[in-house]
Amino acid sequence: MDSAIKPTPIPTEEEDPPNQTTALLSFNTDSSSTPPSKPTTTTLLLIFLFITTCVSLFAAIGFAFLFFSSAKSQSPSNQTSEPIAQFARPLTKLNHPVVLLISSDGFRFGYQFKTPTPNIGRLIDNGTEAERGLIPVFPTLTFPNHYSIVTGLYPAHHGIVNNYFVDPHTGETFYMGSHDPKWWLGEPLWETVVNHGLKAATYFWPGSEVNKGSWTCPLNFCRHYNGSVPFEERVDTVLQYFDLPSSEIPVFMTLYFEDPDQQGHHVGADDPEITEAVARIDRMIGRLIEGLEKRGVFEDVNIIMVGDHGMVGTCDKKLIILDDLAPWIEIPQNWVYSYSPLLAIRPPPGFSPSDVAMKMNEGLKSGKIENGKYLKVYLKEELPSRLHYMASDRIPPIIGLLEEGFKVEQKRLKKKECGGAHGYDNAIFSMRSIFIGHGPQFARGRKVPSFENVQIYNLVTSSGVPMSKSIVLVEATCSYLVIYELEYTMLDIIYRGFAEW
Ligand SMILES: *[C@@H]1O[C@H](CO)[C@@H](O)[C@H](O)[C@H]1NC(C)=O
Ligand SMILES: *[C@@H]1O[C@H](CO)[C@@H](O)[C@H](O)[C@H]1NC(C)=O
Ligand SMILES: *[C@@H]1O[C@H](CO)[C@@H](O)[C@H](O)[C@H]1NC(C)=O
Ligand SMILES: [Zn+2]
Repeated sequence: MDSAIKPTPIPTEEEDPPNQTTALLSFNTDSSSTPPSKPTTTTLLLIFLFITTCVSLFAAIGFAFLFFSSAKSQSPSNQTSEPIAQFARPLTKLNHPVVLLISSDGFRFGYQFKTPTPNIGRLIDNGTEAERGLIPVFPTLTFPNHYSIVTGLYPAHHGIVNNYFVDPHTGETFYMGSHDPKWWLGEPLWETVVNHGLKAATYFWPGSEVNKGSWTCPLNFCRHYNGSVPFEERVDTVLQYFDLPSSEIPVFMTLYFEDPDQQGHHVGADDPEITEAVARIDRMIGRLIEGLEKRGVFEDVNIIMVGDHGMVGTCDKKLIILDDLAPWIEIPQNWVYSYSPLLAIRPPPGFSPSDVAMKMNEGLKSGKIENGKYLKVYLKEELPSRLHYMASDRIPPIIGLLEEGFKVEQKRLKKKECGGAHGYDNAIFSMRSIFIGHGPQFARGRKVPSFENVQIYNLVTSSGVPMSKSIVLVEATCSYLVIYELEYTMLDIIYRGFAEW
């Protein structure tokens, strides 16, 4: 009855999802995933990764990670001929490796050039950066992407296919405040960590309040989302974890900031307000660095700074109105599960989705619909496979792809016209965010090609490939973009269940 709800974190029937538990996963306690110990393992792993990650453009990051493979951690076997310790810098103060994963929501790639960002700059200068940004997954929305980052799975496989969706089997609605584990498939990093007897701490992250496996969102190490908590307080709390006795310091921590996404929605991607929001995030990174330095652990902590998606301006009446399609087919509001940038339609029983999609496309292509050519409607099975957006019943049968900056609305309304949005095709360049890694496992001053954020799970949990060896991959051309006119805080949105956040 409910194939969509089956917890299938690693679907094997599909060609596309990256394997969450590749042989690189090298937790001390996990002997079952020990890779073969041959002298050529390094090469094999590279090839293996290349294959398992399919079309994703992962980088020459080296996957030389992280906390389970540091100089002080024990390798579960003689898995590579070149031990990690040769390139991981030794820890000086901490007794075990620590990964701190930071998300700055909606930090579009390029924002770092809008204003001086000296602190982020320090991470970049002495760390490893995706030179042309981190590629989000489709749809380029907050919840799908944050959960892909921590599970290594595409949304169809981790279950959070939108910020807001309906389970067709039960009729139940997922919204951003839904913490029932049945929605959240896959295994997020904090669960992986505690399943291995280690400590994790989350200062906000979509999905972190959900009990899964051994993860019970413990009081001290798991903050319940409250968008009003000042950023400074978040940083200071994370810093205090480093004051704990060394055995108590979590090996994995998350830290989340709502900015600059909030401003981006409000004013678009090119407004001075964005510049200020970016500068503020930079000051938070500065506060963090300073606090870590004061404790003598800055060089010991693996800091990974990412964003979940980019942002694009939506102005100039770039609208497609569904009611305009009435001469071809009427699309009532209650068929539409989300409008834009992700148009998702589930016609009721009795209507054939392929017939509906065909008639919509006829209308859109007729030349008689305003901006019709900027929207293309697909049966989800017919979406470009690079979007990996098919294999879940939670995804409605009809999906529309919009050109950068366009929006779909039911009817013409007098609304605020300009703002910013995201959610578009992840090949659109403005949807890209940032990736910066700094710490003992990251080469200093290194640039790597863009890669998809589903690689981060592997990056954190895998050991094995020396950073000095890089793989040269041809980067796919990525060209596109998004926007919104939200005037709500994240808390508002969580409780109202806006699909577009
Ligand atoms: C790893 O290497 C050490 C020393 O060379 C050896 O004693 C040990 O048996 C090896 N372990 C495995 C799992 O092969
Ligand atoms: C990079 O690291 C080196 C060695 O720790 C340090 O001397 C230098 O100041 C750092 N550079 C920046 C920009 O922080
Ligand atoms: C959210 O955080 C603010 C600021 O710290 C605080 O005043 C408020 O009580 C918190 N709300 C809840 C529901 O905990
Ligand atoms: Zn976001």
